[in-house]
Amino acid sequence: MIKVSVIGAGTMGAGIAQIAATNGHEVCLYDSFDGATETAENKLKKILNRLVEKERITQQENETILGRINFTKEIKEVAGSGLIIEAIIENLSIKQKVFTEIESLVDEDCIIASNTSSLSIASIASALKNPERVVGIHFFNPAPLMPLVEIIPAVQTSENTLTKAKSIIDSWKKVTVITKDTPGFIVNRVARPFYGEALRIYEEGIADFATIDWAMREIGGFRMGPFQLMDYIGNDINYTVTETVFTAFYFDSRYKPSFTQKRMMEAGYLGRKSGRGYYDYSTEMPQANEDRKLGKVILWRVLAMLINEAADALFLNIATKEDIDLAMTKGVNYPKGLLAWADEIGLANVLKQLEDLQTEYGEDRYRPSPLLKRMVAANKTFY
Ligand SMILES: NC(=O)c1ccc[n+]([C@@H]2O[C@H](COP(=O)([O-])OP(=O)(O)OC[C@H]3O[C@@H](n4cnc5c(N)ncnc54)[C@H](O)[C@@H]3O)[C@@H](O)[C@H]2O)c1
Repeated sequence: MIKVSVIGAGTMGAGIAQIAATNGHEVCLYDSFDGATETAENKLKKILNRLVEKERITQQENETILGRINFTKEIKEVAGSGLIIEAIIENLSIKQKVFTEIESLVDEDCIIASNTSSLSIASIASALKNPERVVGIHFFNPAPLMPLVEIIPAVQTSENTLTKAKSIIDSWKKVTVITKDTPGFIVNRVARPFYGEALRIYEEGIADFATIDWAMREIGGFRMGPFQLMDYIGNDINYTVTETVFTAFYFDSRYKPSFTQKRMMEAGYLGRKSGRGYYDYSTEMPQANEDRKLGKVILWRVLAMLINEAADALFLNIATKEDIDLAMTKGVNYPKGLLAWADEIGLANVLKQLEDLQTEYGEDRYRPSPLLKRMVAANKTFY
């Protein structure tokens, strides 16, 4: 079994190291900052102890998993790895520098992957002598619990690198989807309207946070409402992802960030982690207006925008329809795949909703995907 090295022992790196060690690999977890590997080791010990208490693993397995991980501040210890997964700070020039250093330490057949959420894999790979060995392997937080992993070949990635990387991650019992090297990959692109359209509905005064959340949960079947979820993710992180995707798409108005969320971030109302976001966690939660007619208007508008985004990702060959649907159910727990959901609702109904919004607002934000139009004209369904 190959040795796996993880670069960066933060939130994502520590989780990825846990997965690799649990799946039997010898793991090197490297971080350059003082105290980072110690923090990761202590956190991992707590997580594994809890798994023993819950009888998910035995004490023996706990010790074996920990024993497989070499927590280190010495980058040269990555030597001999068959797979490296980088999960350091989201900064292109720092990542390129680390990739160059790693390339000088490993054999030619070692795959070097990045867990980046927003940088292009092509730009990271371009720093290497052998860029064909680079691929994106994008986990979701918390990595050990979220089943989805997006695999992203860059223009430089060889078929061999892609096949090998996918088969290793599949062997870790993850659900892998292959996506083009475009901003937000599948999940962080297709999910944008879940937040953006909910914010817009609030800004127009159609409903408050609690009512929008209630509608999406109770009528739509989503596990969390958009405001609840933004508070959980953190308004700083969620806003940054939106802004990054918006910029990367050359300011396509579909992805325009919201001032409501920007002010939340500026005020330090980050969500659960700061005790206050859209909700104040020190007091009782506000009551939703449980008017089902209003709830359906809210759900229908957000859902039509999500389906449009999924259809457009398919139109532009970002991934297969199956992978787009899998990504949203396994990466962000949507109750159904968006394209399958569209078939259920009827594509003509989705298209009409988008056209009505576009007519009413005159905004490009609501333009229907050409694929939806073509499919409705040809009376087709996705499945
Ligand atoms: N947090 C998420 O939800 C999430 C999800 C998917 C992908 N990602 C991506 O994963 C990567 C890491 O994110 P995170 O949330 O784990 O960050 P984090 O801040 O928790 O951890 C980053 C770690 O990298 C270390 N580091 C920074 N520069 C380094 C260097 N030059 N050499 C070695 N170590 C260095 C830091 O000490 C820190 O421990 C980013 O690229 C991010 O876009 C994050």
